[in-house]
Amino acid sequence: MRLDGKIALITGGGTGIGLDIAKRYVEEGAYVYITGRREKKLQEAVDLVGKNIVYIVADVTKKEDNQKVADRIKADKGHLDIAIANAGVGNYIAIEDVTEEEFNRVMYTNVLGTYYLAQACLPIMEEGSTFILNTSVTTSLGLPKFSLYIAAKSAMKSFIHTWTNELRDRKIRVNALAPGIIPTDAAGQELGRDPKEEQNVQQYRSTLIPAGRVGNVKDTSNAAVFLGSDESSYVNGVELLVDGGLAAIYPVKL
Ligand SMILES: NC(=O)c1ccc[n+]([C@@H]2O[C@H](COP(=O)([O-])OP(=O)(O)OC[C@H]3O[C@@H](n4cnc5c(N)ncnc54)[C@H](OP(=O)(O)O)[C@@H]3O)[C@@H](O)[C@H]2O)c1
Repeated sequence: MRLDGKIALITGGGTGIGLDIAKRYVEEGAYVYITGRREKKLQEAVDLVGKNIVYIVADVTKKEDNQKVADRIKADKGHLDIAIANAGVGNYIAIEDVTEEEFNRVMYTNVLGTYYLAQACLPIMEEGSTFILNTSVTTSLGLPKFSLYIAAKSAMKSFIHTWTNELRDRKIRVNALAPGIIPTDAAGQELGRDPKEEQNVQQYRSTLIPAGRVGNVKDTSNAAVFLGSDESSYVNGVELLVDGGLAAIYPVKL
């Protein structure tokens, strides 16, 4: 198995992309911790995966919650091999409509949450361990009304450069996984589209993507297994696009 014996933490692992990564990681031999704010979702995820997975209710924007998670992993397992900063939020919103509250929600969850995660986890990460930051294909695109989200994901993307260098002597790798369009429950809902509208949008987008389809959570999990495993031991400081070629052709209207 490709992740045999590895200890992994996936923030926001109770739903969507993070949940599927948790499932695949367990299938590949890892022991997985998932976090999130909604205990019901986390419990459902644990029930679904069934074994070698536990949840901890924790909000990534709270420093003490990140510390609580790291303390628990240290007490249970002694160390952490793979930290996945997956928890994220975003919203289509015009520049002039962004409130301070919304600005903070998006920046705190994506950027501060990733930072707190690293601060809490680094003391329990040994040589050979790895960070995977869930960024987004949008860091390569200029999508209207998405500037706040893209700014947040771009800040996360910058960590793959700075952290890779800062952590080089500790032999801790830092990579990003940048999903393209992966229709998860949240993707449409949070962006304010009803299911029918969401379906039409995804159908249209399929025609733009070189792969001829939108992505799915298996696509992102495949990449996450690679980045978390020793197969990628010489892959460091990259943003791995899992987007069916979307960024490569830079569509004008998405
Ligand atoms: N789906 C896509 O097309 C796509 C594309 C590019 C990038 N992404 C990124 O992929 C990641 C997962 O997205 P998804 O599509 O799977 O949506 P999702 O199901 O909504 O996943 C987001 C997860 O983050 C958790 N979360 C949000 N705020 C949190 C906080 N403050 N503390 C802890 N957990 C928090 C949520 O759980 P709680 O609400 O219970 O806390 C949820 O489980 C996100 O970072 C997203 O930006 C998605």
